[in-house]
Amino acid sequence: MSRQKIVAIDGPAGSGKGTVAKILSKKCNLVYIDTGAMYRAIAYLTLKNNIDITDEDKIVSLARDSKIDFIDGKTYLNGVDVSSEIRTMEVTKIVSPISSIVKLREILVDMQRKMASDKDVIMEGRDITTVVFPNATYKFYLDATLEERALRRYKENKEKGMDVSLEEIKSNIEKRDYNDTHKKVGSLTRTKDSIYIDSTNLTIDEVVEKMRKVIEEEV
Ligand code: DC
Repeated sequence: MSRQKIVAIDGPAGSGKGTVAKILSKKCNLVYIDTGAMYRAIAYLTLKNNIDITDEDKIVSLARDSKIDFIDGKTYLNGVDVSSEIRTMEVTKIVSPISSIVKLREILVDMQRKMASDKDVIMEGRDITTVVFPNATYKFYLDATLEERALRRYKENKEKGMDVSLEEIKSNIEKRDYNDTHKKVGSLTRTKDSIYIDSTNLTIDEVVEKMRKVIEEEV
């Protein structure tokens, strides 16, 4: 049997991790795991249950009792498809502080490792190359300027019919960038052994092709 492949991608919000990971999962026959969606699912549940975002014990206990699955590109929380609910601005605003809860991260990291235990996977997030799978087969750090990342999210939202201004998106991304790079545990860090790709001036296809060549060992 050939060795298990784990492709780990980290990078800030809007850097294109999700888009390229989805395409690469099909091209390279890998199971796609969106770890941001897992933090979003818990943030959504926190809102739904009217739990204060500073009530760490309650949030941790919610996460302990939750089951998260990815089926056919959709995110299921306790058996219910929450793919659109987890992308609202309300969830996006609280997800970064919630993801700073150390005990919550332990639970989700454990789930992420179990999800990948017997499969070839492509997993993206903020701490995949550093905490979840520091020994992943291939490690990437995807980046782009703040302006470009905000513009991408703005266009994405528009396509989905969500009416959020470019300024609001930019300011939310800026806050999340700060919070996501200043966490006690699982902070977004660019490691020396990750392949760095600045996608600001690249098309999705160009980024995918660069990464595919590495994953399929053509370079
Ligand atoms: O990738 P995303 O924008 O959907 O992630 C939502 C938030 O979850 C992001 O602001 C930071 C957090 N997150 C994290 O802390 N660790 C991960 N592995 C993935 C996401």
